Amino acid sequence: MRIIPPKDIPLSEILPNPPILLMGAGPVPTPPEVKVASSIVFSHLGPTMREIIKRLQLMGQYVFQTSSTRILGIAGPASGAMEMAMASLIWPGRKVLVLNLGTFSARFGDMARGLGGDVTELVPASLSCFKASDVKAALEKDKFDVITLTHGETSCGIKNVELEEIARVAKSMGVKVVVDAVVTLSCMPVPMDEWGIDIMFTGGQKGVSAIPGIALIAFSETCFDEIQARTEKMPHWCLDVRRAWKFWGLGEYHYTAPVPGILALHEGLRLICLETLEKRFERHTQSSLSLQRGLQEIGLEMYAPEYCRLQSVVAVKNKTGVVTKDLIQYMIQKHHVEISGAFGLDIVRIGQMGEQCRPENVSRTLAALKEGYAHFA
Ligand SMILES: Cc1ncc(COP(=O)(O)O)c(C=O)c1O
Repeated sequence: MRIIPPKDIPLSEILPNPPILLMGAGPVPTPPEVKVASSIVFSHLGPTMREIIKRLQLMGQYVFQTSSTRILGIAGPASGAMEMAMASLIWPGRKVLVLNLGTFSARFGDMARGLGGDVTELVPASLSCFKASDVKAALEKDKFDVITLTHGETSCGIKNVELEEIARVAKSMGVKVVVDAVVTLSCMPVPMDEWGIDIMFTGGQKGVSAIPGIALIAFSETCFDEIQARTEKMPHWCLDVRRAWKFWGLGEYHYTAPVPGILALHEGLRLICLETLEKRFERHTQSSLSLQRGLQEIGLEMYAPEYCRLQSVVAVKNKTGVVTKDLIQYMIQKHHVEISGAFGLDIVRIGQMGEQCRPENVSRTLAALKEGYAHFA
């Protein structure tokens, strides 16, 4: 049978018009500089790319707050960066302590088990983050090689407030610290060196406000050297950091690099450097607090206790009797504003990362949510 081409439908007939304002847990709206950069393709090898990578690593050092030069991009989601971190440190028999707050921190456990790691999971007793004292007690019970945690657990809107102390305790016991900073990097302080973090990563589609499908990861120099010294084969080829460093460190071929994604990351990082971390953190804090005040004014309650509430993805309790899926769909159709549902919990989640933290975006979201709930009342 001969297969003929399908009827032509141009993208313009598929994409929503007007475009949807992305106010969920990511991806987030992209600034004009990122839009331009992510439409450019040129050779991934050669002096132009070398210069861009050098600049990207320099700006990455500022954003991660690390003196380490071992910063790499990954053609893939943030989970790809998580997988590179795990494959670098876990092999059969390695003991891993996974601090499980929800979907994303649990993913570390899945990956570690897949790599043959001996996984112990810790879950907090109540709706809260982890206490450093509890983590210390768990670390003292056994000899662990690696501890993993999410700084901000997007699925329930909780922040590990005691990350700094947890990392310090783990480090003092010789345990490698892997941190998912996917929804916190560039939104709030998470200084990698000062807090003693060995590996930290994010995705392009979150605070950096680049595009989905590209991730960024940083290794401390010590941790990187230890991984380089490993002689065993890694379980992954694309995600083998030793192979990836051929491109990111030496400008040689590993795989064809995602040129538009790298350029988008470059622009996202450049805009952060121009704004400065201090001003950016303040913008994020003020915007998130204003969003939360607005949510309370329309009679909504936050899901996470104030003490450990994640400011960059705000989880809001749903109103009784409303199906969140219907509410979200209605807001998209009527107001062209999209927020996120959740993985099993009766909450909606509103993002406060990068370009989402603009007063006009916050007020548009609040108005859409208010009218949406009124519609379903
Ligand atoms: C905290 C956190 N970690 C990891 C991920 C995974 O990111 P990706 O979907 O890009 O793999 C997400 C995605 O929302 C996240 O919020």
